[in-house]
Amino acid sequence: MADFSPLPVPVPTGLDGFLLWPEFLNLDQQKQLVESVRDGIRIAPLYRPVTPAGRPFSVRMSNFGPLGWVSDREGYRYQPHHPQTGHAWPPIPDLLLDIWKATARHPRLPDACLINFYDADAKMGLHQDKDEADFSVPVVSVSLGDTAVFRYAPPEGGPSRTVKLSSGHVCVLGSKARLARHGIDRILDGSSQLLPRGGRINLTLRVAR
Ligand code: SIN
Ligand code: MN
Repeated sequence: MADFSPLPVPVPTGLDGFLLWPEFLNLDQQKQLVESVRDGIRIAPLYRPVTPAGRPFSVRMSNFGPLGWVSDREGYRYQPHHPQTGHAWPPIPDLLLDIWKATARHPRLPDACLINFYDADAKMGLHQDKDEADFSVPVVSVSLGDTAVFRYAPPEGGPSRTVKLSSGHVCVLGSKARLARHGIDRILDGSSQLLPRGGRINLTLRVAR
């Protein structure tokens, strides 16, 4: 089990069930995850999915785990293979499973980890994560590289607010915030030195089935 001490205190987010730990990961742990992502995308290359309406995402994606989240003309779903190579996704790295155990505090382990890669111009529209079978299980999200402006709003709608997610930040959307609306307004280009060519990696751990 990785050592996350001293465990930082989650900062107030104003949304019950949305937990955010700034600098949860130290620099070595962040570098280790970047290496794991590099290894993973050698097996399962980043690709640019399209929405069901046929619009390309500005984010490029891949996955770790028995299941991976995909989007295409047929809709959103989880599937065991990469849509372009047809090969199984690589396994979820142990360090990510340790982050899940330390933050999700849920007896189940994730079976899916979406890898999102944002270049300086990429964004993600406000949405809810609802392609999973059981919304009582939280979602855990890890940020690496350039800082993102994360927008969120209560599940039932209402005013949104923003918080900056920087490299090493970890957040959980659980309980009343499991279906919170969320998205990425923009990336602060050049805000981190972690990725030599810049950009942001987001790793989202979920129990899909
Ligand atoms: C997502 O909702 O899939 C990604 C959120 C993020 O990049 O922080
Ligand atoms: Mn999401």
